[in-house]
Amino acid sequence: MTSEKPVVDVTPEVIGEPNILSQRLAALRRQGKTIGLVPTMGALHEGHLSLVRRSRQMCDVTAVSIFVNPTQFAPGEDYEKYPRVLEADLEALASAGGADFVLAPSPAAMYPEGFDAHVHIGGVTKRLEGECRPTHFDGVAVVVLKLFNMSGADVAFFGQKDYQQAAVIQKMVRDLNLQVKIEVCPIVREADGLAMSSRNKYLSAEERAQAPVLKKALDLAKEQIEAGNRDTADLKHQMRRLISAVPSAAIDYISIADPATLEELDSVGGPAVILLAVKIGATRLIDNIVIP
Ligand code: PAF
Repeated sequence: MTSEKPVVDVTPEVIGEPNILSQRLAALRRQGKTIGLVPTMGALHEGHLSLVRRSRQMCDVTAVSIFVNPTQFAPGEDYEKYPRVLEADLEALASAGGADFVLAPSPAAMYPEGFDAHVHIGGVTKRLEGECRPTHFDGVAVVVLKLFNMSGADVAFFGQKDYQQAAVIQKMVRDLNLQVKIEVCPIVREADGLAMSSRNKYLSAEERAQAPVLKKALDLAKEQIEAGNRDTADLKHQMRRLISAVPSAAIDYISIADPATLEELDSVGGPAVILLAVKIGATRLIDNIVIP
C-alpha cells in the first residue's frame, strides 16, 4: 500500500452482481494489488469524492459501491425518496478522476430471496442515532460487512460526518477480527459551513439558508471550550438557544461525548466530540466537530 502515488484517470467497470465484483477483485488481489472500498448510497457529492481520491492515493484499485440500502431505513423514513442518480454519479466520479469498479446492485442482488442474517454491534450503537433510529445501525452493519466480504478490501473509506457510523464500523472490525483498515476522512463543507450530505437536496431555498446553524452551533461550543468553558450542560444550553432561534429547526439531540466510547461527558477535561442531529423542516441533518 503506497501513501502517495500518481493518480491517473480511469473509467469504472459498472457491476450489478456482487459475485462478479468478488471475482474481479480476487484476481487483482492475487496479482498483489491493494483494494480500496468506498461504500456509498450514491447521490455523490464532494464528500464522497474526497473518499474516492483518498482511496486512489492509498490503494492500487478503488471500488465504489452505490446502493441505497433498504435495511438501514425504518418504515416512514426516506428510503423511497432517497435520490437514485447513477448516471450523474458516474459523471461525478469521472470528474474526480474515476474509480476502477462501481458496484451498483439491485436490492434483490444484495438481499436475495431467503436472506435472513442479522449483524448487531452493541455498545456504541445504543445512543444518539441508535436511540433515534433503533434499527439503523443493524442495517448499516449488515450491508457494510457484506461489502467488506465481497470486496476483500484492504482499506475502506468513510466520512467523519457520520461520526457514530464510523465508530460502529470500527467496533465491528475489532469485535469480528475483520482484516480491513478503516480510514475516516474529514467532513467536506459548503462555503457557508453546511456539511455536505445527499440529504441537503431535500432542503427548500429557505431551509437551505437556515441549515448552516448546525455548524454555527458547533463552532460556538468549540469557541466556548477554547475560552475555558468546560460545563457541557451550559455549552449545550447555548447551542440549543442558537438553534432554536431558527424557525425551521427542531433538535433531535445535542451531545458532548467521549470521542471513543460516545459516552456523554459532564465536563470537557480532554478530547471530546460534539454531535448533533437537527431537523430543518422535514429534513434530518447531522454534524459533528472533534475537540482535540
Ligand atoms: O454512509 C452511508 O452512505 C451508508 O450508511 C453506507 C455506509 C454506504 C451503508 O449503506
